Amino acid sequence: MHISVLLEEAIRYLNLRKDSIVVDATLGYGGHSSHILSKIPEGYLYAFEQDKEAIKHALDKLKACGDNYEIINTNFVNIQKELDKRNVQADGILFDLGVSSPQLDNAERGFSFHQDAKLDMRMDRDSALTAYEVVNTYAYEDLKRILYKYGEEKYASSIAKAIIQYRLTKKIDSTLELAEIIKNSVPEKYRKKGHPARKSFQAIRIEVNHELEVFEKALKDSLELLKPGGRICVITFHSLEDRLCKKIFNEVSSIPHELRKLPVIPEAYRPKFKVIASITPSKEEIKNNPRSRSARMRVIERIDNYGKKENEKIKNN
Ligand SMILES: C[S@@+](CC[C@H](N)C(=O)[O-])C[C@H]1O[C@@H](n2cnc3c(N)ncnc32)[C@H](O)[C@@H]1O
Repeated sequence: MHISVLLEEAIRYLNLRKDSIVVDATLGYGGHSSHILSKIPEGYLYAFEQDKEAIKHALDKLKACGDNYEIINTNFVNIQKELDKRNVQADGILFDLGVSSPQLDNAERGFSFHQDAKLDMRMDRDSALTAYEVVNTYAYEDLKRILYKYGEEKYASSIAKAIIQYRLTKKIDSTLELAEIIKNSVPEKYRKKGHPARKSFQAIRIEVNHELEVFEKALKDSLELLKPGGRICVITFHSLEDRLCKKIFNEVSSIPHELRKLPVIPEAYRPKFKVIASITPSKEEIKNNPRSRSARMRVIERIDNYGKKENEKIKNN
């Protein structure tokens, strides 16, 4: 079962009206989407999801809440193309990134270092690149780079070396085989700080699903898809996604440094967005759902009227 993270907060910060047009970029098992639907009886929900299995489960939940929705079975990197096709601008857009608990818990999907399965890690099972390809075909430098960059793994070099070494004798077929290679390539003391394969598995998953590139493009496109006054809520689960989100939000909500001393900021340089919030789950939520402990939600709003008043407010900050 998947327990939606920061559910109440996301619904509150999306500022829904009964006729809001909302986009859920990550339908998953429909937890957020079904709550959104129940708040927008006269509005419409567009929900993106790349995993057909998740869609099957979400459908029952959505059907119970209304019929004013469309599920778009594609990667959210296509958000702009899909919404332009439908001539849609949104009042609210939600990203709840990463994998869902059922994806992680289903051994067959090959995401878990606790359960044995063929190395896969694709959220979209029709896509070409699998964890098996990454682990068995990438050169040492590429393996080291992804482990370091996407896993922030300090033993990236030793782990990449161990993978290459192992491959000289046989292919790495399964999740537990990979987890064991990683465990044996890091110092004993590192093995005591959580599972030594956690960061490497995260890194390989990010590479397989191109998670950071697609998120960056989709988030930038989403800013342009918002109606004035509309909001984007982004829930992230690790610092790489969160830093990327923070950077993009800061860029679009601030005046370029070199213009800050001007008495009047030219219209073209006035920010069109303002940052609304950055929040983490309550202690109670973390207690009830430990998976939420690394979550953070950032919220940004498209400024309704970026006239003189807004300009002065920003300058005074
Ligand atoms: C954390 S779950 C979302 C859970 C959902 N909010 C709920 O309450 O049930 C993330 C979902 O987003 C999907 N997903 C992740 N990246 C995606 C992408 N680039 N395009 C489409 N779906 C994506 C995953 O397949 C997964 O089902």
